Amino acid sequence: MKSDASASAPGGDGRFETILVVDFGAQYAQLIARRVREAGVYSEIVPPSITPAEIARRAPRGLIFSGGPASVHVEGAPSIDPAVYDLGIPILGICYGAQLIAQQNGGTVGRTDKGEYGRTPMNLAAGSDGVAGGRLLGGLPDEQTVWMSHFDAIVDGPAGVTTTASTADAPVAAFEHQERGLYGVQFHPEVVHTPHGQHVIEQFIHQGCGLDGDWTMASIVDSAVELIRAQVGDGRVICALSGGVDSAVAAALVHRAIGDQLSCVFVDTGLMRLNEGEQVIETFGRHMGIHLIGVDAGDRFFAALAGITEPEAKRKAIGELFIRIFEDAKAQVDDAKFLVQGTLYPDVIESGNEHAATIKSHHNVGGLPDDIDFALVEPLRSLFKDEVRKLGSELGLPDEIVLRQPFPGPGLAVRIIGEVTPDKVATLQHADHIVREELRLAGLEREIWQSFAVLPDIRSVGVMGDERTYGHPIIIRAVTSEDAMTADWARIPYDVLESMSSRVINEVPGINRVAYDITSKPPGTIEWE
Ligand code: XMP
Repeated sequence: MKSDASASAPGGDGRFETILVVDFGAQYAQLIARRVREAGVYSEIVPPSITPAEIARRAPRGLIFSGGPASVHVEGAPSIDPAVYDLGIPILGICYGAQLIAQQNGGTVGRTDKGEYGRTPMNLAAGSDGVAGGRLLGGLPDEQTVWMSHFDAIVDGPAGVTTTASTADAPVAAFEHQERGLYGVQFHPEVVHTPHGQHVIEQFIHQGCGLDGDWTMASIVDSAVELIRAQVGDGRVICALSGGVDSAVAAALVHRAIGDQLSCVFVDTGLMRLNEGEQVIETFGRHMGIHLIGVDAGDRFFAALAGITEPEAKRKAIGELFIRIFEDAKAQVDDAKFLVQGTLYPDVIESGNEHAATIKSHHNVGGLPDDIDFALVEPLRSLFKDEVRKLGSELGLPDEIVLRQPFPGPGLAVRIIGEVTPDKVATLQHADHIVREELRLAGLEREIWQSFAVLPDIRSVGVMGDERTYGHPIIIRAVTSEDAMTADWARIPYDVLESMSSRVINEVPGINRVAYDITSKPPGTIEWE
């Protein structure tokens, strides 16, 4: 039985003022959505194929067209039904989105001699209201830096618009038509390299769309509590508690909504970090006062993973066993019909839909078997990670929980390349513990999004004392990120890397080499599998 998992996720039910971000294929669409939410307005990403009728049904208070890699002149370039301009909803186009607005409304998009990339000086011009920069850029310095990334440029804006800013190579770097509610910017206001970018987005939201902003943590809690109660009624609910931030916050939220109707199941998969199982039982059972059932399932997971080397197969096997174990635990919780999961909005987007390719099936979304015997309650399904952390604090969870680094549902299994065995897990737990401990001792834990060790399926020759060794390497992975959608490898000081390396080699049997992963995401992913 699969019910509407979004039923308890705040935001999608029309209760909040909403801005839809139409994704024209930019890696920036999620960033735009997050910036809108930071300004206090709920936002959701939709594909360009969305029909004007569907938009009207959802009644957003504004639309933002994202940038994208295509040229409006190329056949098959993504477009949107032009009837969208007759809906009377204010629209902000960014980069490609602005060019599309121009092209569909009688303007001209041309190929300039050279594109603009990176930080670019931009000058304001008077808007139709006489204010330099018009509605979106008004009040900002006459000359400012913006982040550009385009080859085509708008030469003439749509009929009736006013050009409110220009650069050396973009004569129409910003335009607006206040009466029609049409706005376009050639630069990227959503990136940090545009210092006044957030102001531009806020001006669109507040002045352009007339929104005050009702997406606050307190109202998110209220809405989620109401939706959870409506979804589960007086039914019993089980929560899959993993020890990570997401399931902890989901559990706290559901507990706030329905109290003792909730029982949490903590499955010790044997694939957790060192001592994590005990910590989880201690912290959540005691600190949060939630009814907690602990299941020691390491043997079952190792049996299910025996012989499996392919990453997706591992994820599927783990996801399925999780569900089976919850179903067994259900016997202890009289008649539970609902299962809480801490699925986040990026998981939903990344797990692929008709518009996005599957990158990895996250075990809490794509890895679920079809015959699952619970209805899902996923109250965080509409939230970004930073929102989940804030929500956790709003619910009174301690920093040790809400600021904890993310840990994947399949645990260390996706950090052991090749077959997963108890011995390899023990080795990796030990190395991983050292890596994170050294980072904490260096005071860098909070700056780093995730830091951990990976055990690849290779061996190399070394020498220790007078002995030749033939051991395994450990790869250290540490990244900075805002939301895990993109990430950069962390510039950990050499002396910290050195102490990690020498401790791992000296203290972890079987390890004779340490490497540091210097791959960003994209093109890499954060995890190795
Ligand atoms: P990747 O490796 O895709 O990871 O760049 C992005 C973020 O998601 C975490 N991750 C998972 N979390 N179930 C989860 O709950 C999963 O199957 C899973 N796979 C990756 C990863 O740790 C990173 O924070």
